[in-house]
Amino acid sequence: MRIIRTITELRRWRQALSATARVVFVPTMGALHAGHGHLVQLARQAAGPDGCVLVSIFVNPKQFGPAEDFASYPRPFAEDARLLRQWRTDILFAPTAREMYPQDEAPADSPRDPAGYQDPLGDVLEGKIRPGHFHGVCVVVARLLAMVQPGMLILGQKDYQQQLILRRMIREMNFPVDVLTAPTIREPDGLAMSSRNRRLTPRERPAAAVVYRALCRAKDEILHGRREVKHLIEEMAGPIAAAGLEVQYALPCHADTLAEFAGVVNDRCVLLVAARLGATRLIDNVVVPQE
Ligand code: PAF
Repeated sequence: MRIIRTITELRRWRQALSATARVVFVPTMGALHAGHGHLVQLARQAAGPDGCVLVSIFVNPKQFGPAEDFASYPRPFAEDARLLRQWRTDILFAPTAREMYPQDEAPADSPRDPAGYQDPLGDVLEGKIRPGHFHGVCVVVARLLAMVQPGMLILGQKDYQQQLILRRMIREMNFPVDVLTAPTIREPDGLAMSSRNRRLTPRERPAAAVVYRALCRAKDEILHGRREVKHLIEEMAGPIAAAGLEVQYALPCHADTLAEFAGVVNDRCVLLVAARLGATRLIDNVVVPQE
């Protein structure tokens, strides 16, 4: 695995690749876990023997709010590089903030960028709680796509709203890239894998599994014909709150538009939950298959 730190070096590598080599790109913020391992495995399959798997690690200051955990976000670089080698990554692109945002004096202090893609879906759900977050995600992913020029981008379903917004950005900005959304990888008790799970204390950790249990219960209700929004919200929020978590939202939304349903769920649906457990925010989702 080759580690590339600068855009100049990345460009040189990209230009030297044959025009037919398929580049499959997995963007990350590091602190890698088995969920990322699955994304890289899918990338390896999609790239084929002659293609190239490129993973980026960049903790993007523009997607963190001023009161969020940018400074304390875990950065175990040596361990991440070891895992990426083990997962048969070809290129690890790990630029500095200066390299990504050369025009900013102090990137961490200026999370909003006047340029770049703005999506109305960026203002609901996660976007309402984290203003500017999705704008920051779009700014960095657009830059990374322009630099890497991949044939395929792999995203995780765990960040459902993120993958939906990025798909819309890619369509609107005409990036010539296919997008694959990979299913969420879970711990044995159902907790969705996430870099932030390492913040859960041993006392909190067992309670975190309630989120996925509640999502599965609400999904079963829909599949058994109980489609009233009010009932579904109670099925999710009730047990999560009873386990001691603070529910930020627990909603059935349209799977393509994130619109809330009026009264009953009558179309393709994603169940979305965000909850706080001590110092950790947990988000998760389940898509309900159409009958
Ligand atoms: O999902 C993430 O880890 C980040 O939001 C991403 C897509 C790497 C952009 O910084």
